[in-house]
Amino acid sequence: MKELVVSKIREGTVIDHINAGKALLVLKILGIDAGTNLTVSMAMNVPSSKMGKKDILKVEGMYISEEKLNKIALISPNATINLVRDYEIERKFKVRPPEVVEGVLKCPNLMCVSNAEREPVRSIFYVKIEENEVSARCHYCGRKIKDLANHII
Ligand SMILES: Nc1ncnc2c1ncn2[C@@H]1O[C@H](COP(=O)(O)OP(=O)(O)OP(=O)(O)O)[C@@H](O)[C@H]1O
Ligand SMILES: [Mg+2]
Ligand SMILES: [Zn+2]
Repeated sequence: MKELVVSKIREGTVIDHINAGKALLVLKILGIDAGTNLTVSMAMNVPSSKMGKKDILKVEGMYISEEKLNKIALISPNATINLVRDYEIERKFKVRPPEVVEGVLKCPNLMCVSNAEREPVRSIFYVKIEENEVSARCHYCGRKIKDLANHII
């Protein structure tokens, strides 16, 4: 029998295969903080046959927008989204980082035109996935960034 790390939800979303330790960042992307009324369960650093260790988030009654899914994909490219209805998984899909993201990442290069004080332009980054890690390159100045979580606007 398969073991459930945390209890079942009736309706909502299970985000599975989150990179170990990143669940708190995913919560941040979802806008879930101490003031939330949502029923949320979180498991961090649980054993996974596919990933060694992983995090899982289960949110009752919440479905995630495309925009937020794209952000989650940037910090956890192997995350699986499971849509739950009547306690069963109705639909399952993997997140997929977009090849280009606009207005999502902030360039760390202070001289970059995307950070110009007078007329900043919307940031554009080209995304690259290697193994389990995502990196991105600034369209304007060429700066390459890793640990995208630290650069999400
Ligand atoms: N009703 C539910 N409420 C909460 N979590 C659930 C529910 N049903 C399944 N899950 C969880 O959703 C995830 C995916 O479930 P599934 O049964 O598809 O497992 P799996 O076969 O291991 O999937 P995968 O191949 O994606 O790893 C698991 O973490 C499971 O514990
Ligand atoms: Mg599994
Ligand atoms: Zn730049």
